[in-house]
Amino acid sequence: MLKEHSFDQNKYKKLNVNKTRYLPWFIALFGIVLLVLICQVLRLNWRILDALQYEEFNLNLKFKNYEELHKLYKNSTSENIIKESNNGFIAGAPNSTVNSFRVVCYYVVSFNLTRFRQLATSSVDPYLCTHIIVGFAIVENGTLQPKNSSDTLEYRNIINLKLINPSLKVLLSVQDFSSKGEFAQVVSSEELRKKFALNALNFINTTGFDGLDLDWEFPAWPDADLTQARNFTLLLGEFRHLINSSKDKNFRKLELSVAVASPLLIMSQSYEIEAMAGLVDFVNLMSYDFHLYTTVSPVTGANAPLYQRKSESGIFSTLNTNWSAMHWVLWGMPWFKINVGIPTYGHSFRLINSDNNGWNAPSSGFGRTGDGKGFITYSDACRLLNDTSTTHVFDDEYDVPYAYNGDEWISYDNALSVTLKAFYIKNSKFGGAMIFCLNSDDFDGICSPVKFPLTRTISNILIG
Ligand SMILES: *[C@@H]1O[C@H](CO)[C@@H](O)[C@H](O)[C@H]1NC(C)=O
Ligand SMILES: *[C@@H]1O[C@H](CO)[C@@H](O)[C@H](O)[C@H]1NC(C)=O
Ligand SMILES: *[C@@H]1O[C@H](CO)[C@@H](O)[C@H](O)[C@H]1NC(C)=O
Ligand SMILES: *[C@@H]1O[C@H](CO)[C@@H](O)[C@H](O)[C@H]1NC(C)=O
Ligand SMILES: *[C@@H]1O[C@H](CO)[C@@H](O)[C@H](O)[C@H]1NC(C)=O
Ligand SMILES: *[C@@H]1O[C@H](CO)[C@@H](O)[C@H](O)[C@H]1NC(C)=O
Ligand SMILES: *[C@@H]1O[C@H](CO)[C@@H](O)[C@H](O)[C@H]1NC(C)=O
Ligand SMILES: *[C@@H]1O[C@H](CO)[C@@H](O)[C@H](O)[C@H]1NC(C)=O
Ligand SMILES: *[C@@H]1O[C@H](CO)[C@@H](O)[C@H](O)[C@H]1NC(C)=O
Ligand SMILES: *[C@@H]1O[C@H](CO)[C@@H](O)[C@H](O)[C@H]1NC(C)=O
Repeated sequence: MLKEHSFDQNKYKKLNVNKTRYLPWFIALFGIVLLVLICQVLRLNWRILDALQYEEFNLNLKFKNYEELHKLYKNSTSENIIKESNNGFIAGAPNSTVNSFRVVCYYVVSFNLTRFRQLATSSVDPYLCTHIIVGFAIVENGTLQPKNSSDTLEYRNIINLKLINPSLKVLLSVQDFSSKGEFAQVVSSEELRKKFALNALNFINTTGFDGLDLDWEFPAWPDADLTQARNFTLLLGEFRHLINSSKDKNFRKLELSVAVASPLLIMSQSYEIEAMAGLVDFVNLMSYDFHLYTTVSPVTGANAPLYQRKSESGIFSTLNTNWSAMHWVLWGMPWFKINVGIPTYGHSFRLINSDNNGWNAPSSGFGRTGDGKGFITYSDACRLLNDTSTTHVFDDEYDVPYAYNGDEWISYDNALSVTLKAFYIKNSKFGGAMIFCLNSDDFDGICSPVKFPLTRTISNILIG
């Protein structure tokens, strides 16, 4: 998840390779690239013929899907949805007997000094998601505690949405941003692990939640104490043991999930993925924040590219949703336990030269759009997109849009990009989508008369 006040720039230092270091290589490779380019141009005619000849040819297929999805998207965002929203929530009630995908939506409790907008619990549509994960509780003295005692009122209100939609599940997420903080304490001995697991599950059960989500960012990161990763698995084992061995039928139904990292280095250092797979009900893959403005990487980039661009290599080719989701599978997490993350927020940048406005364009800081710290909601994006002098671009390698206006530059997700992600999840038979978060979707209808347009688009595709 996002840290609420500012991004910890240090956290990203290790993730970003200093791009200027590669400059001499780029110059040296320029000649070769030029040569390859000439060869490519010569081959192009042949490739187009080839593509036409074989219908299965990947690029061609992708292009066809793209066209279809584009039409679908246009349909789903115009009259149809408007009609639906006029009928209120109930019109969106899915046929629960055919639900096989999860739509797991984070709801961030509103409190002052948060970057997430206040979203009244009464405005949350109980049929949009299969799961709502309420964030965020904290660990204090080895026990689970609400951030603010008044949060329990909002917990109750979200849980009460189950009275309207009985198949909705509501989980509570407990968050910690340090590998040396409260979570580190809790996993550091068997006694503390047992104590926390028991305390947290009792809190969850007695409050009326259906499960617990652990959002520790991240175990053994960046300090690489691999016994901490081991101990995190042991903590999950305590939870699984308590849930499985309970005599209480309701207790045995409690769900356990973990919000997990996408970057290769964190994935390999923080988790024992195969062991985790036997202990959790599902993981929520935080497949976003792949690029954002940082002092070590002060260039524009996509928050949540679905695929890599062909020009990317090395570590850069791993910074996309597909790479991370596939590697969670390759490293031992079953497909059906992975909820692939889709953001409803984006990032803003301030361009140094407004004529240099594509990917990797040098930036001097965060843009004006959003909270002033680079975080933009979909509604913020719409305000900029609505300006007639804003240029819109959809990159069909990354499968995400970006937009710019003067020196203002934003990366975000729109109905088309979330449609492509939802079909990616559906076609690959992942467990479902994780959406972060309801608060940053256009819940009050600034972009269009449709409320929660991005979440609704995903929901219609996966459980509609
Ligand atoms: C879009 O809607 C129109 C009218 O309802 C329908 O005829 C058409 O088949 C739809 N297209 C897609 C791709 O769903
Ligand atoms: C829900 O889907 C099932 C299976 O396709 C179908 O048999 C049932 O009639 C549907 N129920 C409603 C209310 O649409
Ligand atoms: C948050 O706090 C600031 C200053 O402390 C105050 O001006 C503002 O009204 C508060 N906002 C909410 C939503 O409570
Ligand atoms: C945690 O411990 C500190 C110091 O003993 C105490 O002040 C605080 O109230 C405790 N918090 C909880 C939630 O028990
Ligand atoms: C807790 O919430 C109450 C009511 O919303 C607010 O007045 C108070 O400032 C909050 N406390 C903290 C520590 O955020
Ligand atoms: C992990 O737990 C063991 C006890 O099970 C403890 O000896 C060790 O210090 C812990 N390591 C960390 C980093 O928490
Ligand atoms: C779970 O909560 C229910 C309702 O509050 C309670 O009756 C039950 O005893 C609890 N189960 C356990 C194992 O704590
Ligand atoms: C816990 O129970 C579930 C469902 O009954 C079962 O599939 C799983 O293997 C059990 N896990 C452990 C670690 O006992
Ligand atoms: C998706 O990721 C897998 C595994 O890394 C890779 O083999 C595949 O080519 C990727 N798909 C696309 C379209 O980039
Ligand atoms: C978009 O622009 C129109 C015309 O300038 C204006 O009426 C409308 O309020 C704007 N909408 C948003 C979301 O900014």
